[in-house]
Amino acid sequence: MTSTAPVDVSAVGTSTVLTGIGSLVTNDPALGDTPLGVVPDAAVVIEGDRIVWVGPSASAPAADSSFDVGGRAVLPGWVDSHSHLLFAGDRSAEFSARMAGRPYEAGGILTTVEATRAASNAELAAMLDVRVKEMTAGGTTCIETKTGYGLTTVDEVRAASVAAAGGVDAVTFLGAHVNAPEFASDPDAYLDLVCGAMLDAIAPHVQFIDVFCEEGAFDEARTRRVLAAGTRHGLGLKVHGNQLGEGAGVRIAVDNGAVSVDHCTYLSTRDIDLLAGSSTVATLLPICDLSTRQGPAPGRALADAGATIAIASNCNPGSCYSPSMGLAVALAVLQCGLTPDEAVSAATVGGARALLRDDVGVIAVGKRADLQVLDAPTHDYLAYRVGLHLTHAVWRSGLRVA
Ligand code: NIG
Repeated sequence: MTSTAPVDVSAVGTSTVLTGIGSLVTNDPALGDTPLGVVPDAAVVIEGDRIVWVGPSASAPAADSSFDVGGRAVLPGWVDSHSHLLFAGDRSAEFSARMAGRPYEAGGILTTVEATRAASNAELAAMLDVRVKEMTAGGTTCIETKTGYGLTTVDEVRAASVAAAGGVDAVTFLGAHVNAPEFASDPDAYLDLVCGAMLDAIAPHVQFIDVFCEEGAFDEARTRRVLAAGTRHGLGLKVHGNQLGEGAGVRIAVDNGAVSVDHCTYLSTRDIDLLAGSSTVATLLPICDLSTRQGPAPGRALADAGATIAIASNCNPGSCYSPSMGLAVALAVLQCGLTPDEAVSAATVGGARALLRDDVGVIAVGKRADLQVLDAPTHDYLAYRVGLHLTHAVWRSGLRVA
Protein backbone atom coordinates (compact mmCIF):
# COMPACT_ATOMS: atom_id res chain seq x y z
CA MET A 1 0.00 0.00 0.00
CA THR A 2 1.22 3.48 -0.76
CA SER A 3 0.61 6.52 1.38
CA THR A 4 -1.25 9.51 -0.07
CA ALA A 5 -0.69 13.11 1.05
CA PRO A 6 -3.79 14.91 2.43
CA VAL A 7 -5.71 17.08 -0.03
CA ASP A 8 -8.85 19.11 0.44
CA VAL A 9 -11.03 17.49 -2.20
CA SER A 10 -13.66 20.18 -1.79
CA ALA A 11 -11.20 22.55 -3.44
CA VAL A 12 -10.77 20.21 -6.40
CA GLY A 13 -14.39 19.68 -7.44
CA THR A 14 -17.88 19.22 -6.13
CA SER A 15 -17.91 15.44 -6.36
CA THR A 16 -15.24 12.89 -5.47
CA VAL A 17 -15.16 9.16 -6.08
CA LEU A 18 -13.22 6.98 -3.62
CA THR A 19 -11.99 3.97 -5.59
CA GLY A 20 -9.91 0.91 -4.83
CA ILE A 21 -11.78 0.14 -1.59
CA GLY A 22 -10.78 -3.41 -0.67
CA SER A 23 -13.52 -3.76 1.94
CA LEU A 24 -16.31 -1.24 2.51
CA VAL A 25 -18.26 -1.37 5.81
CA THR A 26 -21.62 0.28 5.12
CA ASN A 27 -23.76 -0.80 8.11
CA ASP A 28 -26.46 -1.31 5.49
CA PRO A 29 -27.51 -4.99 5.87
CA ALA A 30 -29.09 -4.88 2.41
CA LEU A 31 -25.55 -4.65 0.97
CA GLY A 32 -23.63 -7.77 1.89
CA ASP A 33 -24.19 -10.95 3.87
CA THR A 34 -23.95 -9.61 7.45
CA PRO A 35 -25.46 -6.70 9.42
CA LEU A 36 -22.22 -4.81 8.74
CA GLY A 37 -23.09 -4.75 5.02
CA VAL A 38 -19.51 -5.29 3.82
CA VAL A 39 -19.00 -4.68 0.10
CA PRO A 40 -15.70 -5.95 -1.37
CA ASP A 41 -13.95 -4.07 -4.20
CA ALA A 42 -16.19 -1.03 -3.74
CA ALA A 43 -16.41 2.67 -4.55
CA VAL A 44 -18.18 5.61 -2.87
CA VAL A 45 -19.07 8.97 -4.40
CA ILE A 46 -19.27 12.09 -2.22
CA GLU A 47 -20.93 15.30 -3.36
CA GLY A 48 -20.88 18.33 -1.10
CA ASP A 49 -21.37 17.01 2.43
CA ARG A 50 -23.35 13.89 1.38
CA ILE A 51 -22.78 10.39 0.07
CA VAL A 52 -24.45 10.15 -3.34
CA TRP A 53 -23.42 6.70 -4.61
CA VAL A 54 -22.23 3.39 -3.06
CA GLY A 55 -21.52 0.19 -4.97
CA PRO A 56 -19.06 -2.05 -6.77
CA SER A 57 -15.97 -0.35 -8.16
CA ALA A 58 -16.67 -1.66 -11.63
CA SER A 59 -19.87 0.37 -11.97
CA ALA A 60 -18.79 3.59 -10.18
CA PRO A 61 -19.91 6.76 -11.98
CA ALA A 62 -17.47 9.48 -12.97
CA ALA A 63 -16.84 12.37 -10.55
CA ASP A 64 -14.99 15.68 -10.57
CA SER A 65 -12.05 14.10 -8.76
CA SER A 66 -11.02 10.65 -7.62
CA PHE A 67 -9.07 9.24 -4.70
CA ASP A 68 -7.65 5.72 -4.88
CA VAL A 69 -7.46 4.16 -1.40
CA GLY A 70 -5.20 1.37 -2.68
CA GLY A 71 -7.12 -1.67 -1.47
CA ARG A 72 -7.60 -0.41 2.08
CA ALA A 73 -10.74 -0.79 4.20
CA VAL A 74 -13.22 2.10 4.38
CA LEU A 75 -15.62 2.43 7.34
CA PRO A 76 -18.09 5.04 8.54
CA GLY A 77 -16.29 7.58 10.74
CA TRP A 78 -16.47 6.70 14.44
CA VAL A 79 -19.42 8.13 16.35
CA ASP A 80 -18.03 8.92 19.80
CA SER A 81 -21.18 9.26 21.89
CA HIS A 82 -19.54 9.86 25.30
CA SER A 83 -16.74 12.29 26.11
CA HIS A 84 -15.94 15.05 28.60
CA LEU A 85 -13.79 17.49 26.61
CA LEU A 86 -14.49 20.80 28.41
CA PHE A 87 -11.87 20.76 31.11
CA ALA A 88 -8.66 22.36 32.25
CA GLY A 89 -5.93 21.08 34.55
CA ASP A 90 -4.03 17.85 34.93
CA ARG A 91 -4.72 14.70 36.96
CA SER A 92 -1.74 12.57 36.02
CA ALA A 93 -0.75 12.35 39.71
CA GLU A 94 -4.19 10.88 40.47
CA PHE A 95 -3.65 8.37 37.66
CA SER A 96 -0.26 7.35 39.05
CA ALA A 97 -1.71 6.99 42.55
CA ARG A 98 -4.40 4.75 41.06
CA MET A 99 -1.79 2.60 39.38
CA ALA A 100 -0.15 2.30 42.81
CA GLY A 101 -3.36 0.89 44.25
CA ARG A 102 -5.66 3.80 45.14
CA PRO A 103 -9.20 3.14 43.78
CA TYR A 104 -10.92 5.49 41.33
CA GLU A 105 -13.49 7.67 43.16
CA ALA A 106 -15.91 10.37 41.96
CA GLY A 107 -14.24 12.89 44.30
CA GLY A 108 -11.31 13.51 41.92
CA ILE A 109 -13.72 15.37 39.64
CA LEU A 110 -13.54 18.40 41.95
CA THR A 111 -9.84 18.91 41.10
CA THR A 112 -10.88 19.42 37.49
CA VAL A 113 -13.79 21.65 38.51
CA GLU A 114 -11.40 24.07 40.22
CA ALA A 115 -9.08 24.26 37.19
CA THR A 116 -11.94 24.54 34.70
CA ARG A 117 -13.61 27.39 36.55
CA ALA A 118 -10.29 29.26 36.49
CA ALA A 119 -9.85 28.87 32.71
CA SER A 120 -11.07 31.58 30.32
CA ASN A 121 -13.47 30.83 27.47
CA ALA A 122 -10.61 31.27 25.00
CA GLU A 123 -8.46 28.78 26.92
CA LEU A 124 -11.29 26.25 27.06
CA ALA A 125 -11.94 26.69 23.34
CA ALA A 126 -8.26 26.21 22.49
CA MET A 127 -8.05 23.03 24.58
CA LEU A 128 -11.27 21.73 23.03
CA ASP A 129 -9.85 22.37 19.56
CA VAL A 130 -6.75 20.27 20.32
CA ARG A 131 -8.91 17.42 21.66
CA VAL A 132 -11.28 17.47 18.68
CA LYS A 133 -8.27 17.37 16.33
CA GLU A 134 -6.86 14.37 18.21
CA MET A 135 -10.20 12.59 17.84
CA THR A 136 -10.45 13.44 14.15
CA ALA A 137 -6.94 12.13 13.55
CA GLY A 138 -8.13 8.80 14.94
CA GLY A 139 -11.13 8.53 12.61
CA THR A 140 -13.83 10.09 14.80
CA THR A 141 -16.25 12.22 12.77
CA CYS A 142 -19.19 12.70 15.15
CA ILE A 143 -18.58 13.81 18.74
CA GLU A 144 -20.78 14.17 21.78
CA THR A 145 -19.35 15.99 24.76
CA LYS A 146 -20.59 16.92 28.22
CA THR A 147 -20.46 19.82 30.61
CA GLY A 148 -19.97 18.85 34.25
CA TYR A 149 -16.72 20.50 35.34
CA GLY A 150 -18.30 23.90 36.03
CA LEU A 151 -21.07 23.14 38.53
CA THR A 152 -22.24 26.76 38.65
CA THR A 153 -24.82 28.15 36.25
CA VAL A 154 -22.28 30.48 34.64
CA ASP A 155 -19.59 27.83 34.27
CA GLU A 156 -21.94 25.14 32.98
CA VAL A 157 -23.49 27.48 30.39
CA ARG A 158 -20.11 28.68 29.16
CA ALA A 159 -18.89 25.08 28.80
CA ALA A 160 -21.98 24.27 26.70
CA SER A 161 -21.52 27.40 24.59
CA VAL A 162 -17.80 26.75 23.99
CA ALA A 163 -18.65 23.15 23.00
CA ALA A 164 -21.37 24.19 20.58
CA ALA A 165 -19.07 26.78 18.99
CA GLY A 166 -16.22 24.26 18.84
CA GLY A 167 -17.71 21.99 16.23
CA VAL A 168 -18.97 19.09 18.33
CA ASP A 169 -22.14 17.41 17.15
CA ALA A 170 -24.03 17.02 20.43
CA VAL A 171 -23.75 18.64 23.85
CA THR A 172 -24.99 17.07 27.08
CA PHE A 173 -25.72 18.91 30.34
CA LEU A 174 -24.02 17.13 33.24
CA GLY A 175 -24.58 19.58 36.09
CA ALA A 176 -25.37 16.44 38.11
CA HIS A 177 -21.81 15.16 37.83
CA VAL A 178 -20.97 15.54 41.52
CA ASN A 179 -22.27 17.83 44.23
CA ALA A 180 -20.75 21.33 43.86
CA PRO A 181 -18.24 22.20 46.63
CA GLU A 182 -20.29 25.23 47.71
CA PHE A 183 -23.15 22.88 48.60
CA ALA A 184 -21.11 20.31 50.57
CA SER A 185 -23.46 20.54 53.54
CA ASP A 186 -26.68 20.80 51.52
CA PRO A 187 -26.65 18.59 48.40
CA ASP A 188 -30.40 18.97 47.91
CA ALA A 189 -29.97 22.72 47.48
CA TYR A 190 -27.47 22.00 44.69
CA LEU A 191 -29.98 19.64 43.09
CA ASP A 192 -32.62 22.39 43.29
CA LEU A 193 -30.23 24.61 41.32
CA VAL A 194 -29.36 21.90 38.76
CA CYS A 195 -33.02 21.05 38.14
CA GLY A 196 -34.13 24.70 38.32
CA ALA A 197 -32.25 27.84 37.29
CA MET A 198 -29.18 26.03 35.91
CA LEU A 199 -31.26 23.79 33.66
CA ASP A 200 -33.43 26.72 32.52
CA ALA A 201 -30.28 28.60 31.49
CA ILE A 202 -28.49 25.75 29.76
CA ALA A 203 -31.39 23.93 28.06
CA PRO A 204 -31.26 26.04 24.87
CA HIS A 205 -27.58 25.06 24.39
CA VAL A 206 -27.82 21.26 24.84
CA GLN A 207 -29.61 18.22 23.42
CA PHE A 208 -29.22 15.78 26.34
CA ILE A 209 -29.15 15.74 30.13
CA ASP A 210 -27.02 13.25 32.08
CA VAL A 211 -26.56 12.29 35.72
CA PHE A 212 -23.81 10.32 37.47
CA CYS A 213 -25.77 7.70 39.43
CA GLU A 214 -23.17 6.21 41.75
CA GLU A 215 -22.00 6.11 45.32
CA GLY A 216 -20.26 9.45 45.99
CA ALA A 217 -22.34 11.15 43.30
CA PHE A 218 -26.16 10.95 42.97
CA ASP A 219 -28.42 8.32 44.55
CA GLU A 220 -31.58 6.82 43.07
CA ALA A 221 -34.04 9.50 44.23
CA ARG A 222 -31.78 12.35 43.09
CA THR A 223 -31.08 10.64 39.77
CA ARG A 224 -34.80 10.30 39.11
CA ARG A 225 -35.28 14.00 39.91
CA VAL A 226 -32.66 15.04 37.37
CA LEU A 227 -34.19 12.88 34.66
CA ALA A 228 -37.70 14.19 35.38
CA ALA A 229 -36.43 17.77 35.08
CA GLY A 230 -34.71 16.94 31.78
CA THR A 231 -37.89 15.37 30.46
CA ARG A 232 -39.82 18.53 31.31
CA HIS A 233 -37.34 20.47 29.16
CA GLY A 234 -37.65 18.02 26.25
CA LEU A 235 -34.04 16.83 26.51
CA GLY A 236 -32.85 13.33 25.68
CA LEU A 237 -31.94 11.41 28.83
CA LYS A 238 -28.61 9.79 29.62
CA VAL A 239 -27.31 8.13 32.78
CA HIS A 240 -23.77 7.36 33.94
CA GLY A 241 -24.62 4.03 35.56
CA ASN A 242 -23.09 0.85 36.95
CA GLN A 243 -19.53 2.19 36.60
CA LEU A 244 -18.06 1.39 40.00
CA GLY A 245 -20.42 -1.35 41.11
CA GLU A 246 -23.87 -2.80 40.50
CA GLY A 247 -26.43 -0.14 41.27
CA ALA A 248 -29.71 1.40 40.23
CA GLY A 249 -28.43 3.24 37.13
CA VAL A 250 -29.56 0.79 34.46
CA ARG A 251 -32.94 0.23 36.09
CA ILE A 252 -33.62 3.97 36.41
CA ALA A 253 -32.45 4.64 32.85
CA VAL A 254 -34.72 1.97 31.38
CA ASP A 255 -37.67 3.04 33.59
CA ASN A 256 -37.34 6.56 32.23
CA GLY A 257 -36.85 5.60 28.59
CA ALA A 258 -33.34 7.04 28.60
CA VAL A 259 -31.55 7.18 25.26
CA SER A 260 -28.49 5.50 26.79
CA VAL A 261 -26.94 4.30 29.99
CA ASP A 262 -23.20 4.65 29.89
CA HIS A 263 -20.42 2.55 31.48
CA CYS A 264 -22.45 -0.64 32.20
CA THR A 265 -19.33 -2.18 33.71
CA TYR A 266 -21.11 -4.01 36.53
CA LEU A 267 -24.42 -5.49 35.36
CA SER A 268 -26.67 -8.05 37.00
CA THR A 269 -28.54 -10.57 34.85
CA ARG A 270 -31.64 -8.46 35.48
CA ASP A 271 -29.88 -5.33 34.20
CA ILE A 272 -28.93 -7.16 31.01
CA ASP A 273 -32.50 -8.39 30.53
CA LEU A 274 -33.87 -4.89 31.15
CA LEU A 275 -31.52 -3.40 28.54
CA ALA A 276 -32.32 -6.15 26.03
CA GLY A 277 -36.04 -5.50 26.44
CA SER A 278 -35.74 -1.74 26.01
CA SER A 279 -34.66 0.86 23.49
CA THR A 280 -32.02 2.21 25.89
CA VAL A 281 -28.55 1.86 24.39
CA ALA A 282 -25.90 0.21 26.59
CA THR A 283 -22.81 2.34 26.02
CA LEU A 284 -19.55 0.58 26.87
CA LEU A 285 -16.39 2.55 27.68
CA PRO A 286 -13.65 -0.08 27.57
CA ILE A 287 -10.65 2.27 27.80
CA CYS A 288 -12.11 3.71 31.01
CA ASP A 289 -12.46 0.22 32.47
CA LEU A 290 -8.83 -0.44 31.60
CA SER A 291 -7.64 2.89 32.95
CA THR A 292 -9.48 2.42 36.25
CA ARG A 293 -8.53 -1.27 36.48
CA GLN A 294 -12.13 -2.44 36.51
CA GLY A 295 -14.32 -4.61 34.40
CA PRO A 296 -14.32 -5.62 31.65
CA ALA A 297 -17.95 -4.81 30.88
CA PRO A 298 -20.06 -7.82 29.89
CA GLY A 299 -20.28 -7.03 26.19
CA ARG A 300 -20.77 -10.64 25.11
CA ALA A 301 -23.71 -11.16 27.48
CA LEU A 302 -25.31 -7.90 26.31
CA ALA A 303 -24.92 -8.85 22.66
CA ASP A 304 -26.25 -12.38 23.23
CA ALA A 305 -29.28 -10.96 25.05
CA GLY A 306 -29.99 -8.65 22.10
CA ALA A 307 -29.23 -5.27 23.72
CA THR A 308 -28.26 -2.34 21.51
CA ILE A 309 -24.61 -1.54 22.25
CA ALA A 310 -22.53 1.57 21.64
CA ILE A 311 -18.82 1.95 22.27
CA ALA A 312 -17.35 5.35 23.09
CA SER A 313 -14.03 6.80 24.25
CA ASN A 314 -15.09 8.57 27.48
CA CYS A 315 -12.13 10.89 26.96
CA ASN A 316 -11.81 12.86 30.23
CA PRO A 317 -8.97 13.89 32.55
CA GLY A 318 -9.84 11.51 35.39
CA SER A 319 -10.97 8.02 34.55
CA CYS A 320 -9.80 7.82 30.93
CA TYR A 321 -7.55 10.32 29.19
CA SER A 322 -7.64 8.75 25.73
CA PRO A 323 -9.75 9.73 22.71
CA SER A 324 -8.87 6.59 20.72
CA MET A 325 -11.95 4.91 19.30
CA GLY A 326 -9.67 2.43 17.53
CA LEU A 327 -8.39 1.29 20.93
CA ALA A 328 -11.93 1.23 22.35
CA VAL A 329 -12.99 -1.08 19.51
CA ALA A 330 -9.97 -3.34 20.02
CA LEU A 331 -10.66 -3.63 23.76
CA ALA A 332 -14.36 -4.28 23.16
CA VAL A 333 -13.25 -7.29 21.14
CA LEU A 334 -10.30 -8.47 23.23
CA GLN A 335 -11.74 -7.84 26.69
CA CYS A 336 -15.53 -7.49 26.42
CA GLY A 337 -16.02 -10.45 24.08
CA LEU A 338 -17.56 -8.74 21.06
CA THR A 339 -16.66 -9.88 17.57
CA PRO A 340 -14.86 -7.33 15.35
CA ASP A 341 -18.12 -6.90 13.39
CA GLU A 342 -20.11 -6.20 16.57
CA ALA A 343 -17.52 -3.77 17.91
CA VAL A 344 -17.31 -1.77 14.69
CA SER A 345 -21.10 -1.63 14.52
CA ALA A 346 -21.27 -0.43 18.14
CA ALA A 347 -18.69 2.32 17.50
CA THR A 348 -20.51 3.61 14.43
CA VAL A 349 -24.23 2.97 14.10
CA GLY A 350 -24.48 2.10 17.81
CA GLY A 351 -23.04 5.49 18.72
CA ALA A 352 -25.46 7.14 16.31
CA ARG A 353 -28.37 5.47 18.11
CA ALA A 354 -27.02 6.75 21.43
CA LEU A 355 -27.24 10.25 19.95
CA LEU A 356 -30.64 9.73 18.26
CA ARG A 357 -29.09 10.28 14.83
CA ASP A 358 -29.63 8.43 11.59
CA ASP A 359 -27.44 10.59 9.34
CA VAL A 360 -24.09 9.30 10.63
CA GLY A 361 -22.59 5.89 11.38
CA VAL A 362 -23.61 4.43 8.01
CA ILE A 363 -22.31 4.70 4.47
CA ALA A 364 -25.43 5.04 2.35
CA VAL A 365 -26.86 7.44 -0.19
CA GLY A 366 -28.10 10.66 1.43
CA LYS A 367 -26.11 10.23 4.66
CA ARG A 368 -23.43 12.64 5.87
CA ALA A 369 -20.15 11.97 4.09
CA ASP A 370 -18.22 10.82 7.18
CA LEU A 371 -15.72 8.12 6.26
CA GLN A 372 -12.40 6.77 7.46
CA VAL A 373 -9.82 4.83 5.51
CA LEU A 374 -7.90 2.28 7.58
CA ASP A 375 -4.31 1.42 6.86
CA ALA A 376 -5.43 -2.21 6.72
CA PRO A 377 -7.36 -4.45 4.33
CA THR A 378 -10.31 -5.10 6.71
CA HIS A 379 -11.80 -3.80 9.97
CA ASP A 380 -10.68 -7.04 11.71
CA TYR A 381 -7.21 -5.50 11.91
CA LEU A 382 -8.38 -2.96 14.52
CA ALA A 383 -8.25 -5.69 17.18
CA TYR A 384 -5.82 -8.03 15.42
CA ARG A 385 -3.14 -5.30 15.33
CA VAL A 386 -4.08 -3.70 18.66
CA GLY A 387 -1.90 -0.74 19.58
CA LEU A 388 -1.16 0.39 16.03
CA HIS A 389 -2.59 3.66 14.76
CA LEU A 390 -4.46 2.47 11.68
CA THR A 391 -6.14 5.68 10.49
CA HIS A 392 -5.02 6.53 6.95
CA ALA A 393 -7.48 9.27 5.89
CA VAL A 394 -10.71 10.80 7.21
CA TRP A 395 -13.59 12.71 5.59
CA ARG A 396 -16.13 14.62 7.69
CA SER A 397 -19.17 16.19 6.02
CA GLY A 398 -17.44 15.64 2.67
CA LEU A 399 -14.20 17.40 3.61
CA ARG A 400 -10.88 15.64 4.00
CA VAL A 401 -9.96 16.36 7.62
CA ALA A 402 -7.10 13.91 8.23
O1 NIG B 1 -17.46 9.04 32.82
N1 NIG B 1 -18.06 8.96 35.92
C1 NIG B 1 -18.11 10.14 35.87
N2 NIG B 1 -17.54 10.95 34.98
C2 NIG B 1 -16.39 10.59 34.18
C3 NIG B 1 -15.13 10.76 34.93
C4 NIG B 1 -14.88 12.13 35.31
C5 NIG B 1 -13.59 12.38 36.03
O2 NIG B 1 -13.06 11.51 36.75
O3 NIG B 1 -13.12 13.50 35.86
C6 NIG B 1 -16.52 9.21 33.61
O4 NIG B 1 -15.74 8.31 33.90
